[in-house]
Amino acid sequence: MHSLLSSFLVSIIVSMVLVRVPTQVHSLTLKSDIEVLQALMQAIDPVSITRGFQGILCTFPTDKTANRIMAIDLDPAGYDGFLTPLIGNLTELTSLSINKNNFRGPIPETIANLQKLNRLSLSQNLFTGRIPQGIINLKHLEILDLSQNHLSSKIPANITTLRSLVQLSLSNNALSGKIPDLSGLWQLNTLDLSGNNLDGIVPNLPINLRKLSLSHNVLSGHISPVSVLQRLTVLDLSDNRLSGPIRQEVLTLPLVTRINISNNQFTEMQAIPYPRDDLQLRVLDAHANRLHGHLPISLVNIANLSSIDLSHNFFSGRIPLEYGAKLSSSWRSLFLEDNFLTGNPPAQFIDRTVAVRGSLAHNCLRCPPNIRFCRGGQRPSSECVGQQDHST
Ligand SMILES: *[C@@H]1O[C@H](CO)[C@@H](O)[C@H](O)[C@H]1NC(C)=O
Ligand SMILES: *[C@@H]1O[C@H](CO)[C@@H](O)[C@H](O)[C@H]1NC(C)=O
Ligand SMILES: *[C@@H]1O[C@H](CO)[C@@H](O)[C@H](O)[C@H]1NC(C)=O
Ligand SMILES: *[C@@H]1O[C@H](CO)[C@@H](O)[C@H](O)[C@H]1NC(C)=O
Repeated sequence: MHSLLSSFLVSIIVSMVLVRVPTQVHSLTLKSDIEVLQALMQAIDPVSITRGFQGILCTFPTDKTANRIMAIDLDPAGYDGFLTPLIGNLTELTSLSINKNNFRGPIPETIANLQKLNRLSLSQNLFTGRIPQGIINLKHLEILDLSQNHLSSKIPANITTLRSLVQLSLSNNALSGKIPDLSGLWQLNTLDLSGNNLDGIVPNLPINLRKLSLSHNVLSGHISPVSVLQRLTVLDLSDNRLSGPIRQEVLTLPLVTRINISNNQFTEMQAIPYPRDDLQLRVLDAHANRLHGHLPISLVNIANLSSIDLSHNFFSGRIPLEYGAKLSSSWRSLFLEDNFLTGNPPAQFIDRTVAVRGSLAHNCLRCPPNIRFCRGGQRPSSECVGQQDHST
């Protein structure tokens, strides 16, 4: 990735007094760039400039060959306004960052003219309308962050032509439609599409992903495209309509430390056949699914696992003795509430010296009275005989 702060560049704070740009970088081209900057600032509602204008950090090259503005970094001060279409005239820009302001209206289509951009960061504004189609012309983009706006289009299918992308965040908008096949984005390591209205299946994904969040959408179908992501460290698929088994290949991805698959419709958790101390997985949240059968004993095979949430599922039968052993060794958090578990919990669950966060409430267990771990909620678990009311 090009470092914008590398030694041949110099950063100059251009405040409202733009005429103070050093005379040696004056030229006709720079003048027109400055006109664009002035237009950019005129499109900001002066009322929103409460603390005085903090400035735009502009970066100019020092070699005097181009004399053009190369980067704009607006301070995150909550400025209200529109992003002027004239922004497309700053054709030497490599970075445009106006995060955490209140820019509204559409993202100008002229942004497609900024062919040298490698960072476009418009997150936490109030932009509406669509993701400009022309964005696919920005072949050098490495970081595209449009998160936390009100964009409502589809994700352009040919976004996959942006082969340099390293980070793509479109989270917390109102994007709809299907997620295109993104497997061509070889460089991508972070993909965050959470908090939209995306539907359809989980598509093929870039093989080098390290962080993946698709949470809070309406995705359905199975998750086998995830099982090939050997470099993944964080996986969040929570709050969708995903179904089928949670495959062993996903649970045993070699670098993954956190998996959140809660609030879906998964039915089965596949067994991990033998002890694995080579895995990094520490946190597994699978609450509020449709997991059934006995509790998965083989979770104890994942050596570094310490935080487990299997609550609000349909697990039945006894709590495995192996879980008890883990409570007194490495497990620090275990939530099993609201299932159909029966019988006596292993002794460690009742041992007051075991410092584990968790709950067994709303099951059909035979717990001694007044054991904190067994209660929680309104109703002591001992009340539950046979069928369980899942309506609450
Ligand atoms: C912006 O570019 C357009 C088209 O090239 C040109 O007509 C216009 O004068 C430019 N505006 C400024 C302020 O540079
Ligand atoms: C990208 O896809 C859109 C439709 O989704 C199409 O209109 C446009 O021509 C495509 N552009 C390229 C360069 O393929
Ligand atoms: C998993 O995601 C849900 C939101 O869907 C969130 O409430 C929960 O805290 C997450 N679990 C963990 C362990 O981060
Ligand atoms: C397991 O956790 C321990 C302690 O946090 C750590 O030293 C070790 O590297 C971890 N093992 C793996 C395979 O991540």
